[in-house]
Amino acid sequence: MKKYHILLVMAALLWPCMFAFAAKKSLPILPYPNSVEMKGGVFKIAGAPVSISGLDDAKAVAAVKEFVADLSAASGKQSEVRTGDADNGIVFSKETSIPSEGYVIEVGKKKISVRASDFPGIFYAIQTLRQMLPSEIYGHLPAPSADWTVACCRIEDKPRFSYRGTLLDCCRHFWTVEEVKKFIDMMAVYKQNVLHWHLSEDQGWRIEIKKYPELTEIGSWRTHTQVGLDRRPESSDRRPHGGWYSQEEIRDIVAYAENRAITIIPEIDMPGHMVAALASYPWLGCFGKSMEFPGEPYKVRTMWGVSKDVLCLAKPTSLEFVYGVLDEIMELFPSKYIHIGGDECPRTAWEKCPACQAKIAELGLEDKGKTSKESYYQTWFTLEIQKYLAEHGRSIIGWDEIFTDKLSKSATVMNWRDVSYGIRAALAGHDVICCPSRKLYIDYRQTVQYEHEPISITRNRPERAITIERMYAYEPFTEEMNDEAKAHVIGVQQNLWTEYIATPDHLEYMFAPRCAAAAEIQWCEPGRKDIARLKAALPYHEKLYEQKGFVYSQAWRGISGMPGNRWPIENPEN
Ligand code: ACM
Ligand code: ZN
Repeated sequence: MKKYHILLVMAALLWPCMFAFAAKKSLPILPYPNSVEMKGGVFKIAGAPVSISGLDDAKAVAAVKEFVADLSAASGKQSEVRTGDADNGIVFSKETSIPSEGYVIEVGKKKISVRASDFPGIFYAIQTLRQMLPSEIYGHLPAPSADWTVACCRIEDKPRFSYRGTLLDCCRHFWTVEEVKKFIDMMAVYKQNVLHWHLSEDQGWRIEIKKYPELTEIGSWRTHTQVGLDRRPESSDRRPHGGWYSQEEIRDIVAYAENRAITIIPEIDMPGHMVAALASYPWLGCFGKSMEFPGEPYKVRTMWGVSKDVLCLAKPTSLEFVYGVLDEIMELFPSKYIHIGGDECPRTAWEKCPACQAKIAELGLEDKGKTSKESYYQTWFTLEIQKYLAEHGRSIIGWDEIFTDKLSKSATVMNWRDVSYGIRAALAGHDVICCPSRKLYIDYRQTVQYEHEPISITRNRPERAITIERMYAYEPFTEEMNDEAKAHVIGVQQNLWTEYIATPDHLEYMFAPRCAAAAEIQWCEPGRKDIARLKAALPYHEKLYEQKGFVYSQAWRGISGMPGNRWPIENPEN
């Protein structure tokens, strides 16, 4: 054999080891920690004893125990759990000087030390630790031959933004309790801490309210749904759609999320997007029957889009209704914030409604510049709700349409339209959550290709596609913002509306892996972002999705469509 043949054979033999070495060096953790220092050597984790020292939060102890159970099952070697400090094994302990939600992991050859000051910190450390292990840690089958070693390193980490959310729309299509929990599980993998749960809409009311039972008896079902992109009223798939969560189920989901360091912020969208409520209680509307479909009663809406049928704000019974609903919402959801919607509310009904016009006059509201008196009328309504919630110790979030110069500064504005609305609100002193539709709407198509992609609200317009690269390039701070305005940007959210998403597979496909890009915008300091590093980690995350039985898109690598292209609705543009 010639000398260089021997060299080639040696290189071929060594190549997988070099690859493994390289893989150990670039950890596939997403969102990537804000400080990582690699060291030599590895810790052998299979069967390593686990110590819990000074963790006083039962949720933190439960999270450690769940990790240990998964590690033992996947590695095929049982790790024992003990209490108190130790100088070997994996030691989880409390360190009060670490900032809230932050954590430190030190991996030595004999010991892994995991420290945080609170439950979220411990929980996020565990998410990081999992992603330093074979993806089988996410599965249910033993994989003793996988590489159960952890590269020695020091990680010190904390999030950039305190609010890191995903919106899930359960109204356009309904998701079962198990489906919502699976979704929450995947949010937890990416250290997101808010599920913005969209629970009421024109097309369906989804939460049991005991004072108003018809909301679910009538408002939770629609007779049919438009087909594809055809928005004519006669367009019909000829089958009913619906569903709702009992208060017991809501409590179960809230607790499930809490155990994963996720707060659920409920949204009751008002005074627009309320047709399902109007169909249940027609006295809530200005005219008691539809303005959009003259002569017809209100019906749970079967088409997507915006309806002219909205809540009449002039009737005392409307506010009484809203307070009654919010009383039960506050009982079910312990979150500081309640989202009160406020988007896409046409003012045509109020312009024509004598009671609304009388109320506008009584309140002394007038047009000012580009802001109509009806816009101020919505602000008045928003302020009334805000006052009511504040009396109960809660704060409001509303879509950016709620922002006028008369809005109270303590209202948080969720910027979904152009970023300029968010900039203006932050400059005016409002806390702002950024989810501009052109950047962070994950119901938008994820590739400029459209063959094999499911139908979406963006149709086949390539400029509207939110590819992983386009999403990742988004930076919430802009040059128009001064330091004070930047301090008002409390977080970032991706939104998953479900008009065109009717199956759990499709829902998951839209979420993964763009959730990883959103998570890095939410978690990583701007200097830590690196699209090449993110993409290098995605093959690991695809294995993770497979272990968890979660459908994902490969659009980022140029492969369009879900395996088998099993879309519920044929894409008419294909
Ligand atoms: C929205 O997308 N209408 C908030
Ligand atoms: Zn009215």
